[in-house]
Amino acid sequence: MLNPKSLNLYTVKLWLAPLYGITHYNFRNCFVKHFQGIDCAIAPFIAAKSKTQFNPQKYPDLFPKNNASLPIIPQLMGNSPVEIAETINVLNETYGYEQFNWNIGCPMSQIVRKKRGCGVMPFPDLVEAVVNEVGSKTSTHFSIKMRLGMFDLKEGLEILQRLTTYPIDFICIHPRLGIHQYDGNVDLDTFELFYNTTPYKIVYSGDIYNIECFKYLQNRFPKIENWMLGRGIIQNPFLAEQIVEIGQTNVQSRQDTYPSNKFRFINFYNEYSELLLTLRNEKIALGALKELWHYFSVLLNLGTDELKKLLQINDFKTFHERINKKLL
Ligand SMILES: Cc1cc2nc3c(=O)[nH]c(=O)nc-3n(C[C@H](O)[C@H](O)[C@H](O)COP(=O)(O)O)c2cc1C
Repeated sequence: MLNPKSLNLYTVKLWLAPLYGITHYNFRNCFVKHFQGIDCAIAPFIAAKSKTQFNPQKYPDLFPKNNASLPIIPQLMGNSPVEIAETINVLNETYGYEQFNWNIGCPMSQIVRKKRGCGVMPFPDLVEAVVNEVGSKTSTHFSIKMRLGMFDLKEGLEILQRLTTYPIDFICIHPRLGIHQYDGNVDLDTFELFYNTTPYKIVYSGDIYNIECFKYLQNRFPKIENWMLGRGIIQNPFLAEQIVEIGQTNVQSRQDTYPSNKFRFINFYNEYSELLLTLRNEKIALGALKELWHYFSVLLNLGTDELKKLLQINDFKTFHERINKKLL
């Protein structure tokens, strides 16, 4: 039997992961209106630019008025120390953000090819140069979101070693190599090595799909207090609530979230699809919803064929009607 107190369940913070194309501000706001348990989020990445090129008005995802319901940390993608520091300063001066995250974990080939995202990880001198520039040219907090490495775990270990003397806020780690994309299991043995190596606060990110996964991870890595939920919370929007409940005494764990909570999900889903329609044309709104159904199909237990049929629908109204039949 797990003892919640020994596991620091009362100090746990749950973060919403940056999921480019999914967890933008409209989604975040609608999500936290309908579901509880998420404390903060890292926003999906934006590209760092020089101060003459960077126009903060182009990023509604970071407008403070769009982020009143959930605190966020802006995330930057790039490999130029000057551009990263200048983007931070513009965002700090324009919107007042005091914390920034640097993405060196994205494994997408078009990003890695440009020596960005996880493509930075084999270059520890570059990582140090960025951290140095940010430390000397900005007065904000800085954190890094990374993987174990791009090709080899030695890359991640080298970066952690090089960073020990810099004032990094936290390191968010997704325990896979870049070359593995999202395949296979998270490599928890290697992650344990990282966990034991770095003096920094770690935010764990990877494959938390249910409370059993969460309990296992928390038991194995008891020093971690910050847990990031990504695909798992999109598949099961009740996940953060379930995790919070583990820490509360006398509450029966609510494992069976659907269909018993289906009206909460339906209200969320319909509000979000209507919102998308007011902002985008039907084709784009439908594309965004289809992306989500790769995840929601898990919550509703839809089979592969059923999902495939849904994704073949190219008309918003038909899709909406078909989905609502499934939801009920
Ligand atoms: C569709 C998608 C988009 C993502 N976008 C970002 C991003 O913008 N920035 C980032 O740091 N990580 C991004 N990630 C990685 C996630 O934040 C997270 O670290 C990863 O999915 C592992 O966590 P999970 O298993 O809980 O999803 C993305 C992942 C996916 C699947």
